[in-house]
Amino acid sequence: MQASIEIDIEDISESNLKDIPELCRGCVYWEFPEAFAKDEKDPNKKWELEAKKGEWFVQTMKEFGTCGKIVYQKGKPIGYAQFAPAARLPNIKDYDAKVVGKLEDGVVFLSCLFISSEAIRNKEVGKSLLQSVIEDLRRRGFKALETFARRSEADNPSGPMRFYVKSGFHVKDNTNPEFPLMRLYL
Ligand SMILES: CC(C)(COP(=O)(O)OP(=O)(O)OC[C@H]1O[C@@H](n2cnc3c(N)ncnc32)[C@H](O)[C@@H]1OP(=O)(O)O)[C@@H](O)C(=O)NCCC(=O)NCCS
Repeated sequence: MQASIEIDIEDISESNLKDIPELCRGCVYWEFPEAFAKDEKDPNKKWELEAKKGEWFVQTMKEFGTCGKIVYQKGKPIGYAQFAPAARLPNIKDYDAKVVGKLEDGVVFLSCLFISSEAIRNKEVGKSLLQSVIEDLRRRGFKALETFARRSEADNPSGPMRFYVKSGFHVKDNTNPEFPLMRLYL
């Protein structure tokens, strides 16, 4: 998979956590929903939330291995993906899907896929980043990748449903039609 601009994709590690896009670096929507609801809009809590997110990455990497990727253009971070066992992303329970896949069954949840600037969207960077996540999980022997996509618009942590349909995902659970649970068999 080749994007129409030159990009590099790297696994997230402790040394490049700072390259997670600004909007996402302190966003703990999936990981710590209570802290997100309480502190997300408080500028004084920015560093605290970033530290919490960093700790989440370190712990998840220990338990699961690579759980995020950053995409760079000429050394500048331009996007990010995050994926983990559903049990590490407690806000999943706020969505209405009946059964979200479990790690024991080889299923991983894609919580975020984000290309930070509008100027570089629709150049196949998102597609390449998703493909790199898929190849990584295939190599590691996982069976399926799931995400909540959004039906009516793109403003959603992992983007719109149409993007996932084009990438081979199908609707696994339509209990919440605006945020269907999409699945791709790896
Ligand atoms: C959704 C997103 C990850 C897609 O990445 P991208 O690099 O822009 O998309 P790509 O160029 O790789 O597109 C791949 C395919 O999906 C389609 N697609 C991409 N964005 C789409 C959208 N918003 N609606 C419908 N289809 C879309 C493309 O047309 C393309 O189709 P094709 O293969 O037939 O040509 C990216 O646009 C994004 O991050 N958008 C912001 C979403 C947002 O607001 N998030 C809030 C974060 S909290």
